Amino acid sequence: MTAPALVSVRGLRVAYGDGPLVLDGVDLDLHTGEMVALLGSSGSGKSTLMRSLTGFAPISGGSVHVVGHDMTNLPRRRLRTVRASVGQVFQQFNLVGRLSVLTNVLTGALHDAGPINLAGGFSSAHRRRAMELLDRVGIAHKATDQARSLSGGQQQRVAIARALMQRPRIVLADEPVASLDPRMSHAVLGLLREIAHDDGIPVLVSLHVLALALEHSDRVVGLRHGQVLVSAPTAQLDAATLNVLYDHENDNEEATRVDDHA
Ligand SMILES: Nc1ncnc2c1ncn2[C@@H]1O[C@H](COP(=O)(O)OP(=O)(O)OP(=O)(O)O)[C@@H](O)[C@H]1O
Ligand SMILES: [Mg+2]
Repeated sequence: MTAPALVSVRGLRVAYGDGPLVLDGVDLDLHTGEMVALLGSSGSGKSTLMRSLTGFAPISGGSVHVVGHDMTNLPRRRLRTVRASVGQVFQQFNLVGRLSVLTNVLTGALHDAGPINLAGGFSSAHRRRAMELLDRVGIAHKATDQARSLSGGQQQRVAIARALMQRPRIVLADEPVASLDPRMSHAVLGLLREIAHDDGIPVLVSLHVLALALEHSDRVVGLRHGQVLVSAPTAQLDAATLNVLYDHENDNEEATRVDDHA
């Protein structure tokens, strides 16, 4: 491997409060230019793993390095720097509905400029870049519309433009297509893949639909009960292989059912 990983997680353990380990010895690398699908059933720890990359998970063991920073031992000031370098896309888009599409994208620039920009307005360079990004995601014609007037697929494109506005080093997308129809899901994942491949920004995307992961990702990391059960190039995987992540979801129920029939 030539370039160092932008994200390097080793033996990560996370527990919320006095609860059980929800991540138990997780390893993860993200390299320049790759689109990595994060799979696993509900509660397997996908969101927690993403949160650990932005300092929002209670790490109890192991190591997490993000763009060269050790997240387990980071002064608050540095934490802000790391967060600014991580673009995030969410299931519910998280736009400010009453603001214009353009303003929503511009808020992505606040990460590097701080509150000064809120008072002084955005520079023309920022506005130009925001328009370029809206053009790239195919929403430039909606720039002055209120964000809430857009369809879900359009709003997610705006959210992606906003994430790019902060010039991220990596992008985390937690179930970005869970609220979208199949056609929009493909379009949004195609856009994220383009960001990974063309811009070289690694994208970690959690998904619940195997077919989407198989079609759009370069690599799959599959969690089950907080452990990595699958980690392989997507080309080596198929839906049957990935079913190990879900098959035994109701182990106890299954056992009961078998007993019932005995
Ligand atoms: N803030 C929290 N406090 C306590 N427990 C939490 C918290 N967040 C998550 N958990 C627990 O950690 C485990 C993993 O949750 P997580 O949200 O990471 O799973 P997930 O794979 O993202 O699930 P989903 O597919 O439903 O989004 C679950 O058992 C969950 O209940
Ligand atoms: Mg989740």
